[in-house]
Amino acid sequence: MVAMDTNMMTISRYITEQQRKSNATGEFTQLMNSLVVAIKAISSAVRIAGLNNLMGLAGQENATGDDQKKLDVLSNDLVMNMLKSSFSCCTLISEEDEHAVTIEADRAGKYIVTFDPLDGSSNIDCLVSIGTIWGIYKKETDGSISDVLVPGRKMIAAGYALYGSATVIVNSFGDAPSMFMLDPNIGEFILTEAAMTIKLNINEGYAKYWDEATKNYINSKKDPESGSPYGARYIGSMVADVHRTLVYGGIFGYPAHKKTPNGKLRFLYEAAPMAFILEKAGGMATTGNEDILDVTPKNIHYRVPIWLGSPEDVKELLACCKADP
Ligand code: AHG
Ligand code: MN
Ligand code: MN
Ligand code: MN
Repeated sequence: MVAMDTNMMTISRYITEQQRKSNATGEFTQLMNSLVVAIKAISSAVRIAGLNNLMGLAGQENATGDDQKKLDVLSNDLVMNMLKSSFSCCTLISEEDEHAVTIEADRAGKYIVTFDPLDGSSNIDCLVSIGTIWGIYKKETDGSISDVLVPGRKMIAAGYALYGSATVIVNSFGDAPSMFMLDPNIGEFILTEAAMTIKLNINEGYAKYWDEATKNYINSKKDPESGSPYGARYIGSMVADVHRTLVYGGIFGYPAHKKTPNGKLRFLYEAAPMAFILEKAGGMATTGNEDILDVTPKNIHYRVPIWLGSPEDVKELLACCKADP
């Protein structure tokens, strides 16, 4: 008989335990449980999109000029509807909606959620990993967008779901992030890694096994004068690229260039939540000039250039930025 854990730590059990520990009211638990339902539904839709005419374009452009895919719209509707009916949020900000959505008073709660319902949607039709990203803020003033147009450090929690070879959630409530994997047989996310920390970089996990030549080589790679590049792997779904960076180490960047002077990635629902997770795992996230979490966005779809990853890689990058501003 296959051994089965009969006392598994599901994500709802984990969230409830956190609630008990902090003597919270349960509103945050309601929020997270509703979000998890949306993620399970998106995961299911992603897996059968090709069989159910869910691939391809929806026919509209969103506020930042992306062509919306059918799955972008479906995922947005799922997250919006589950969070609106969770009685825990007052304002919702999505990549797919030009304006912030205010929740009517009789269903309103004290949290503001910013989200990218489906990240990497250009990868849907070729079956490459995609995800969902969220950041959570507490109502500080009137619960309007002024409560999120503040430095990213004000965020109280952030996370992402990755629809990869398995579906996982990586989430931080302000401590080191934890990872939960969806068990499709029981429809629950199960804790698979608590308190994640970013690796120093992809190679250094093996440092004690290296010979002198390898050590010298790695040191030369760290020397900007040597110009030896790291292997470049670019998936084109921020969630997948950053998850790989968190698990294996290294650096991810979407810098500014001539055509996009502020970069492409949007602060509230891409850059800031991913920076929050990476920092809590011991990594760093920067624009090249300042920590991502010190940036104050100027509007809800504000863009920032971003570099994030292992501290030594990001420090090396910052040294280059300083040398050649
Ligand atoms: P989204 O699919 O949510 O619009 O996000 C796309 C983002 C991000 O996932 C990825 O890192 C980047 O855009 C890809 O952009 P390029 O096609 O310019 O590489
Ligand atoms: Mn998009
Ligand atoms: Mn995105
Ligand atoms: Mn998106």
